[in-house]
Amino acid sequence: MTAQLINGNALAQQVRTEVAHRVSALKSHGVQPHLAVILVGEDPGSQVYVRNKVADSEQTGLNATLERYPASLPQEELLARIAILNADPSVHGILVQLPLPKHMDANLVIEAIAPEKDVDGFHVASAGALMVGQPGFRPCTPYGCMRMLESIGMKDLRGKHAVVIGRSNIVGKPMAMMLLAANATVTICHSGTADLAALTRQADIVVAAVGKRNVLTADMVKPGAVVIDVGMNRDDAGKLCGDVDFAGVQNVAGWITPVPGGVGPMTRAMLLVNTLEAAEAAKT
Ligand code: GUN
Repeated sequence: MTAQLINGNALAQQVRTEVAHRVSALKSHGVQPHLAVILVGEDPGSQVYVRNKVADSEQTGLNATLERYPASLPQEELLARIAILNADPSVHGILVQLPLPKHMDANLVIEAIAPEKDVDGFHVASAGALMVGQPGFRPCTPYGCMRMLESIGMKDLRGKHAVVIGRSNIVGKPMAMMLLAANATVTICHSGTADLAALTRQADIVVAAVGKRNVLTADMVKPGAVVIDVGMNRDDAGKLCGDVDFAGVQNVAGWITPVPGGVGPMTRAMLLVNTLEAAEAAKT
């Protein structure tokens, strides 16, 4: 069997089109959605990410401002800047790109963002809201994965077993919460979980979010399962690849997300959704 692809580029384009329509509606009510992006330091990966976030926003009609600071910025100055953005009614979303320089406490910085502007969904208030089933911003990567599942008709996951490999605060844990909220049975694993394959072979849905190549191979997948690959790695030839051995797993899975062109574009699209919804909420 050859798995069907879940095309993240095409689905993200659909999401951006929806966002653009809603942005137009907001603008006709005199509200210009605005995302403030803060980058501290010179991390090359982060520079690409923030540039893309700003470009995506502008293409969708959202205002995005990028503030760049040197890695030597004192933490108090960053906190003071966040306080100003929190109080500015023309700013609807605040995103502080991670990682931050070593002298900063990322948790403290994230908690300084007003929860109603936390479009990354990283604040403890956002995580808590997700945990208890209240409205709040959902972290963009797992939120995008849920949209990908919905796009293949998997919205109510009652009776489905989902296995999440990886338990980061920004992907694995919120992913598990969102799957639970959709009524799935959920197992959260570590990449070092004993006999991981025995668990993944039971799964109707596998989400691989470890950050290591070949975490999931064909022998670990139930025929017909849905495989979502959150990984972003480089292979020996320097080519972008995920956590999943795509060449092998595509012969077993029913659906699979590619890397690139899978979860990545959806993560970017869901940030636009969160920013738009922050602006919609501020209007009312
Ligand atoms: N660094 C890597 N991914 C992300 C993300 O989604 N948001 C932020 N703020 N930083 C990141």
